[in-house]
Amino acid sequence: MNLPARVACIGGGVIGAGWVARLIENGLDVRIFDSAPDARQSMQPVLENADRAYARLTMAQRPVKGQLQFCSSIADAVNGADWVIESVPERLDVKRSVYEAVEAHAPQDCIIASSTSGIMPTDLQQDMQHPERLIVAHPFNPVYLLPVVEVVGGKGTAAESIERAQAFYASLGMKPIQVKREIEAFVADRLLEAIWRESLWLIKDGICTTQELDDIVRFGFGLRYAQMGVFETYRIAGGEAGMRHFLAQFGPCLTWPWTKLMDVPEYNDELVDLIAGQSDAQSGHLDIRELERIRDDNLVAIMQALKANEWGAGLVLADYEKALFDAGARNTGAVDALDFSQPVQTTQRRIPPDWTDYNNHMNEARYLQCFGDATDAFLRMIGCDAEYIASGGSYFTAETHIRHLDEVGVNEPVNTQTQLIAGAGKKLHVFHSLYHGDGRLLATGEHLLIHVSLQTRAACEPSDAIVQKLAMITDHHARLPVPEGAGRFVGQPR
Ligand SMILES: NC(=O)c1ccc[n+]([C@@H]2O[C@H](COP(=O)([O-])OP(=O)(O)OC[C@H]3O[C@@H](n4cnc5c(N)ncnc54)[C@H](O)[C@@H]3O)[C@@H](O)[C@H]2O)c1
Repeated sequence: MNLPARVACIGGGVIGAGWVARLIENGLDVRIFDSAPDARQSMQPVLENADRAYARLTMAQRPVKGQLQFCSSIADAVNGADWVIESVPERLDVKRSVYEAVEAHAPQDCIIASSTSGIMPTDLQQDMQHPERLIVAHPFNPVYLLPVVEVVGGKGTAAESIERAQAFYASLGMKPIQVKREIEAFVADRLLEAIWRESLWLIKDGICTTQELDDIVRFGFGLRYAQMGVFETYRIAGGEAGMRHFLAQFGPCLTWPWTKLMDVPEYNDELVDLIAGQSDAQSGHLDIRELERIRDDNLVAIMQALKANEWGAGLVLADYEKALFDAGARNTGAVDALDFSQPVQTTQRRIPPDWTDYNNHMNEARYLQCFGDATDAFLRMIGCDAEYIASGGSYFTAETHIRHLDEVGVNEPVNTQTQLIAGAGKKLHVFHSLYHGDGRLLATGEHLLIHVSLQTRAACEPSDAIVQKLAMITDHHARLPVPEGAGRFVGQPR
């Protein structure tokens, strides 16, 4: 299935800017129209925060960032688009008028995806000429980090549009979940609304403050929800007897007053002053951008912890990284088409902010990270990719020698060039040179790797395809001078 290449966004507020960030961070060019004259300025800090978060999210080589183009009309933005993401305010009339303009100017097979939090897709598509292409793709703030997106079709939506949506959002590192029957507010906002309603009552009735309520969430069940949902959590709470015991224990509460608070507090100035006043006292000392950065750093850390545990949102991140690594290898071109008359470029990146020490220079461990990434990229070039590893073969690093020759600061561009010293049989001997963007040598890394069987964990010969690729590269690189510094021992005088 072809993934969209030309994406347009209509509306660039909280959610639209989040979509733009996710799209351009994934290498897609985006054309945007927002009716607010200051949209460009207000989006900028969101895009900067997203950039910062992605630098922390993954060590994988990311695609070259897509270009963002601001357009002066919907017609201009959607002309030639194959995907349109609508994130205008939650009003049926506004959304319908946007679709009318989109349909007048976008190609007929272009998907229109609404970010609506709860309007039924059947209502959205009512006046459309081609309702089959309208879907709801309901994301969560921050769209550039949270993986889940609820995909919902209306009565007129084609099954193929839903399939295309699933493939597209998965390619962006997301976890699309199809809500099979449309319902106002879908699944997530039904749940969130219940918590929100109860929270408003608890503050209005003076039971707790906004700070106390938030602490009860974040020091308690909120921590659980990042890794297990409602039912898995309560299954454990039922002890050995699991969910049946839990239901038996708490089933009777369904008729207690706990669950009767179905009405909502009256929305008036008094309620607004109470809630907003307490919220200001709680968090007013931090501006929104600062709060967003704190939130992003925590989300990245949680997702990385879940990745280490091979669980939940961590698995989505792991799959995303695997795809990035493989794409990174593909971007270096088909191995046969590469020029091996010189050392081959294996990585190119900017130094992320959290790679630095107290001096603001890249810390020692990250030099190894750079060389580890370069080795990974080289391995993918010779065919030792995720598929090969899944088939049972891999290389393990046996020895490493790094020379730290210069310092490098945050955001500075660096690249690695790799020379194959020897690549016959089970052994692979590579020499990486890490350069500043301006070509100055920053460090070198020399590594000896052994090919192993992942079943027996013993050394063995690589596949024929890998042997052939290595022979071809060895043939070229053997003609190059031995790199300065190769074969040095630790402490050898310069
Ligand atoms: N904020 C959330 O947490 C959240 C989460 C998920 C989904 N959503 C949904 O996303 C949509 C957008 O919400 P938001 O929070 O980003 O709102 P927002 O008010 O932050 O942004 C809306 C943007 O649309 C622009 N706009 C208004 N009319 C327009 C038009 N006719 N053409 C082009 N641009 C127009 C505005 O200038 C503004 O920049 C809503 O449907 C909302 O329900 C919001």
